Amino acid sequence: MASTMRYLTMNNGLRMPTVGLGTYLMKGDILKQAVDYALFLGYRHIDTALSYGNEVEVGEVVNDRIRSGKNKRKDLFITTKVPCAYLEKDAAIRSGEMSLESLKLRHVDLLLIHQPWGNVNRGDGTLKPLNPKGERELQHHDLLETWAAFEQMHGQNWAKSLGISNFNPKQIQKIWDKAKIKPANLQLEAHAYWQQNKLVEFCRKKNIVLTAYSPLGAPSKPDKKTDDLVLLEDPQVRQLSVEYKKTPGQILLNFLLLKGMGVLPKSQSFERIKENFDVLEWKLSSSDFEKLRELDNTVKYFTNEWAHEHPEFDKSEPF
Ligand SMILES: NC(=O)c1ccc[n+]([C@@H]2O[C@H](COP(=O)([O-])OP(=O)(O)OC[C@H]3O[C@@H](n4cnc5c(N)ncnc54)[C@H](OP(=O)(O)O)[C@@H]3O)[C@@H](O)[C@H]2O)c1
Repeated sequence: MASTMRYLTMNNGLRMPTVGLGTYLMKGDILKQAVDYALFLGYRHIDTALSYGNEVEVGEVVNDRIRSGKNKRKDLFITTKVPCAYLEKDAAIRSGEMSLESLKLRHVDLLLIHQPWGNVNRGDGTLKPLNPKGERELQHHDLLETWAAFEQMHGQNWAKSLGISNFNPKQIQKIWDKAKIKPANLQLEAHAYWQQNKLVEFCRKKNIVLTAYSPLGAPSKPDKKTDDLVLLEDPQVRQLSVEYKKTPGQILLNFLLLKGMGVLPKSQSFERIKENFDVLEWKLSSSDFEKLRELDNTVKYFTNEWAHEHPEFDKSEPF
């Protein structure tokens, strides 16, 4: 049976489709075919970022489908992100403008600050500037200034909703206290091995909707540590997969949806794009949900070593 999309309502009254296609590390025709197939199946949410270097292709597919009447713009939810070399106010606005030009869209549905750990902007488009020692060139930015740029873009209707990603509670609170337009979404690493209960609770009180990135445990992350456990191979997940006659990936996505989060599984395989969408019409039982809750605090796959010396990097706070 085909799945029907579900939505989470944000604190600005707008709705975000719960299942989105992640596009990190996908480019060219592979990406275009994946986005086209996902939209054909019923996905309505596509997650991209200026730093993924694939907004042009995402935009081509989205615009083709709108032009040919296969989708209506109002039904689609496109997320993009301002990278850490663009956190200064004018640079953030430039980043938003570049994303819209690449996507060939008048607006995105959600614009996120990708990470709070600013980098030097060299003015030549470098996204990961390095010093002669090969370390990232960090720069501190006042995140309230970045947010002021976001509010300006919202005022120009470049973005329907604004949010943050990889932010900790202190950083969210700082923006929340001063913002005219409140953050509506937090995108964060979340999966059965890293459930983020503190952040979930913090955001729930503000009705900030959560979107889980790397919901399957980012098995193809390029700089993955070899001794990290592989979430898709977890014995408990495998056991439930057999019992429910679902794949391990579907078990993991259903778990996050039951926790009230949106999910952004990335796949370039038609079979897995379909599989990752067939997670809306059934539910893990509460006792099986509890079994997965017990896997928490096993691995955070994104450790962001490059940012550890940044003044906004706080190891004592969840993000
Ligand atoms: N805000 C941020 O800082 C941030 C950071 C990371 C990611 N993200 C977003 O979140 C999205 C998802 O995260 P991610 O790409 O890191 O990891 P992920 O979605 O957890 O895992 C993707 C990997 O799992 C494989 N896969 C997909 N479906 C599967 C299934 N059902 N069973 C087994 N393997 C499956 C994919 O391979 P195939 O393609 O071959 O299927 C791919 O290698 C990204 O694409 C991006 O849009 C955001």
